Amino acid sequence: MIFLDNVSKYYPHEKVPALDEVTLHIAPKEFVFIVGASGAGKSTLIKMLTREEKPSYGKIIVGGIDYDYMKKRHIPHIRRRLGVVFQDFKLFPNRTVYENVAFTLEIVGVPTAEIKRTVPKVLELVGLSGKENKFPHELSGGQRQRVAIARAMARQPKILIADEPTGNLDPENSIEIMRLLEEINNFGTTIIVTTHDEKVVNLLKKRVVTIRDGKIIGDQVRGGHYDLDASRTKIEKRSLGAQPPKAAPAAPVAQVAPAPAPAAPTAPIKHAAPVAAQVAAMKAAKTAKVSAAQPTVAKSALKPAKPSASGSAVLEQMRRAKAADEAKPVAKRRKFIH
Ligand SMILES: Nc1ncnc2c1ncn2[C@@H]1O[C@H](COP(=O)(O)OP(=O)(O)OP(=O)(O)O)[C@@H](O)[C@H]1O
Ligand SMILES: [Mg+2]
Repeated sequence: MIFLDNVSKYYPHEKVPALDEVTLHIAPKEFVFIVGASGAGKSTLIKMLTREEKPSYGKIIVGGIDYDYMKKRHIPHIRRRLGVVFQDFKLFPNRTVYENVAFTLEIVGVPTAEIKRTVPKVLELVGLSGKENKFPHELSGGQRQRVAIARAMARQPKILIADEPTGNLDPENSIEIMRLLEEINNFGTTIIVTTHDEKVVNLLKKRVVTIRDGKIIGDQVRGGHYDLDASRTKIEKRSLGAQPPKAAPAAPVAQVAPAPAPAAPTAPIKHAAPVAAQVAAMKAAKTAKVSAAQPTVAKSALKPAKPSASGSAVLEQMRRAKAADEAKPVAKRRKFIH
């Protein structure tokens, strides 16, 4: 779950906020487009989530972690939970495709044998099998972005954030990359994508959040259209007090702000099985698509994610949990990040 509560961001020496009292709730497994004109605040919103920038006001909670209680040393933990993809790919030019993906696992101490098992599977996931030994300059733009997505997915993040992932791609590659993100989303990863690509947004019909001058001016929960005025389309505002979720659970109190153990950065992460399972599931879905005219697994998974619990209810739940915790003797308190 991602929750921004009244978040404003003033960059130093700026009188106008880049984000202006933004409240946004994204449930697990949702696919959300963030659209808006240049300078609207899309990247700033993304930077709030990755903690590249801190909000001036407001609260941010990602995956049960309340950023107010996060220390600098915890930031790498958060970043590892998020996969991030950028417009300019940010690949290492002197490393091969394989090495680019492997490196992200090496730096968190994943054993070599496991890396050898995992990388080919992630490359298969993004459709780059056979390109392992190519260097970035030997790939097309679309293929480079696939490497970047493979790298972001190698650590099995629950949330994949892409800031203008198709900004440097032609229309055909843009659609392919967005379809890949859609496929990854169908198998359970929350996806947040900023884009100017009207065609792709209108094609995919996902939730569309529109930002103008740092404010959210539209939130089309499903079947969203690209509309920077957010006036021509019917805007289905997602009220934070809206229906409770069926599938998506509210942030479990026990997961609120768990203090990441200092040793965790070097702890190996188990990747191979989940990636293998994901690849297998995607293959099965593709096969089903080809072999049957009936609606496929993938199609059924295209249903929009159910809205999650009220954001304010989640906050209230967290406040109560914390208050209850603080009432206990010190030795029995659950650890929050301080
Ligand atoms: N580091 C910074 N210092 C000062 N102002 C900044 C900084 N980064 C962004 N801004 C300003 O904040 C506002 C929002 O910028 P942001 O990069 O979030 O826009 P955007 O919607 O991502 O635009 P684009 O579509 O061009 O990428 C802009 O007015 C921009 O000039
Ligand atoms: Mg931007």
